[in-house]
Amino acid sequence: MAKIAIIGAGQVGATCAFALAQAGLAEELALIDVKTDKARGEALDIAHAAPLLPAARFVGGGYEMLGGADLVVMTAGANQRPGETRRDLLSRNLAVTRAAAEEIIRRAPEAVVLVVANPVDALTSAALACTGFPPQRVLGSGTVLDSLRMRYMLSLHTGVDAASIHAIVLGEHGDSELPAWSAMSIAGMTLEEYCDHCGVCDARLPEVMRAAFDENVRHAADRVIAWKGATFYAIAVAVCRIARAVLRDERSILTVSSRLSGEYGLEGVCLSLPCVVGRAGVLRRIPIKLAPDELAALRASADAVASMDARAAEQVERMRR
Ligand code: LAC
Repeated sequence: MAKIAIIGAGQVGATCAFALAQAGLAEELALIDVKTDKARGEALDIAHAAPLLPAARFVGGGYEMLGGADLVVMTAGANQRPGETRRDLLSRNLAVTRAAAEEIIRRAPEAVVLVVANPVDALTSAALACTGFPPQRVLGSGTVLDSLRMRYMLSLHTGVDAASIHAIVLGEHGDSELPAWSAMSIAGMTLEEYCDHCGVCDARLPEVMRAAFDENVRHAADRVIAWKGATFYAIAVAVCRIARAVLRDERSILTVSSRLSGEYGLEGVCLSLPCVVGRAGVLRRIPIKLAPDELAALRASADAVASMDARAAEQVERMRR
């Protein structure tokens, strides 16, 4: 059994803690926040349900709680206000990520670090640079959630269980992400092939339908934020899925964000590709075959993330001076 530490006891961090507590993945779950009472309160609220939860210790407090964590989930930082994009959060959340990285180096030097705060790809790069950990041990939640959202959308349309649909969204978790249509499947068939068996509509996934699914997934968070102010349930379930792959060494294929090392000719930038995820973190990236337009979109997405990385590097340089 293992210890999970969640940095940030805001809505995302607390909901991740609640989801992880029910998943029974760790014998200790520590919730950490600079507002230590908030972290303690959230942990105690969960701890009171201990008799009905998988056995574990639930604790909350400051960074002293990090010690010996096997998995650190980084949720601390601001979240989007209505009308903001994830990229707008970069400068605010970079400082928080840097401070957390210092603590992780000191107190949990062997941990796998899962970055969830946004903009997740640039902050994964920042966490990697600031911790100096091996790249496989620093990953971001990336487009795991976007891929779930696409599965949900396709499930609504086809009337097939979302668990039976393979949908892949790649690239930045944000405005430049791309649905990898050519790699999505139902019952071992491409989506277009499946149209023959679907019977819901006469269309064969025309451009207009793809565009509607794409728009819906790309702007899913904006819709939730406009209605309720923040997203936290679905991301928490996605975090739980990634945590399970890591702590149980499941070697699941998940579209987490990690630093590319030459895939599609891209190097150094963190973004999401299908990855084999296990106890050591990202064991392998799988550069699936993409259609030419998808490849172009992935390159554009990498450029968008690289320009955020450049802004982040300038800001870190200014902070050092
Ligand atoms: C979302 C946040 C996690 O997409 O970025 O809901």
